[in-house]
Amino acid sequence: MSQIPKGERLEETVVLGGSDLPERLLVQLASLPPEGDVEDALWAIVSTFAEGSELYIGVCIPTATGEQLVIRHAPRPSQPRVTDAARLFPEARYEEVMNIPFDVGSSLHIASDDPLDATVRRSADQVALAVASTLRRSRFADQLKREAQEVQQLRDQAVQSDKLAGLGRMAASIVHELNNPLTSIVAYADYLRRRWEQQGVDIADRERLGRISEAAGRVLNFTRDLVAYSRPSSADPSALSVHDVIERSLVFSEHVIAANNVTIVRQYGELPPIRGLHGPLTQVFVNLITNACQAMDPKGGKLTIETSYDANRKVVSVKMSDEGRGLPAVDDLDRLFDAYFTTRGDGGGNGLGLNIVQTIVASHGGAVQAARNEPRGASFVIELPTGR
Ligand SMILES: Nc1ncnc2c1ncn2[C@@H]1O[C@H](COP(=O)(O)OP(=O)(O)OP(=O)(O)O)[C@@H](O)[C@H]1O
Ligand SMILES: [Mg+2]
Repeated sequence: MSQIPKGERLEETVVLGGSDLPERLLVQLASLPPEGDVEDALWAIVSTFAEGSELYIGVCIPTATGEQLVIRHAPRPSQPRVTDAARLFPEARYEEVMNIPFDVGSSLHIASDDPLDATVRRSADQVALAVASTLRRSRFADQLKREAQEVQQLRDQAVQSDKLAGLGRMAASIVHELNNPLTSIVAYADYLRRRWEQQGVDIADRERLGRISEAAGRVLNFTRDLVAYSRPSSADPSALSVHDVIERSLVFSEHVIAANNVTIVRQYGELPPIRGLHGPLTQVFVNLITNACQAMDPKGGKLTIETSYDANRKVVSVKMSDEGRGLPAVDDLDRLFDAYFTTRGDGGGNGLGLNIVQTIVASHGGAVQAARNEPRGASFVIELPTGR
């Protein structure tokens, strides 16, 4: 059977004749491979054309009197495209819409010179069945394809989360081993640096010591990020006070707060408890406090922590405003939350802090937003729902 070129428009539709057309159609459909494209399959036997995303099928069956009967598949029964049929076969006086069996929402549009007689109606029925069966097969094949993709995706995810869980366990043990010696290195280096400052020890040596402490701090930071990123959270959420979490985070951040001469200003409102995970939420505030402190110039500045509760939306918000150098120039502030976005690459930043913040806040059903402060500084607002 010769290949019929695909037409773009109705006028190019080629209409085939032949008394055995429904049989040929069925034979052709039976040989269609399961993953076959319905359009391609029907193409070989009947003419199809695409208009927008809709598929139309034109079939021609000769009637007993030798006139041509046109059957067209229209995508929606409510729109039998009478005008198109009339354009293709202007002489046709009789038009009818026939539902395609088993294919809800589709219909055949039939145009002929005379009302259908029993033989022609049977032919039309057969064509309708063949079309319906092809449509069903192609939908079934599509569904199989989609399901296979989903299964593959789930399998990939399972492998990934397995890897992450393994990485998390490994990271947790590495951090455990590293944390104590590193904390000692940082603490003793800082202690020596302060002493050397008072004793007027060679400035170059003091700087070297400063670098030791900074490098150790960087490793501490990295392990912190690694753990937060890969550890699957096994703890169950519990009712907790956001103020407690903030206070705990401030204790954890004492070192960076003091090192950057930052004054904490608390403007706490009345808050109901929220449901959440203490550890990860502490991480959120530690990351934000750390960023704010690192953004301050050496003179330091204020970090204001303001909390409030919106009873209508049942949302607790925490706003952290600093007086630092302000947010970097980016078109879209959401970019700051992208993993590995950092302007502190030379200062040991990994660009993971805010990404972790966003992930944890989202897992609590909340949201975080960055804003520029006037006249200077940055602020981050975290919203956490209470009713979960
Ligand atoms: N309070 C802030 N003031 C000014 N810029 C900020 C502030 N917080 C974040 N940023 C900007 O957003 C970037 C991304 O922050 P993020 O915490 O994700 O990474 P980082 O601090 O660079 O590295 P890491 O937190 O992994 O050590 C920072 O490099 C900085 O440019
Ligand atoms: Mg950071």
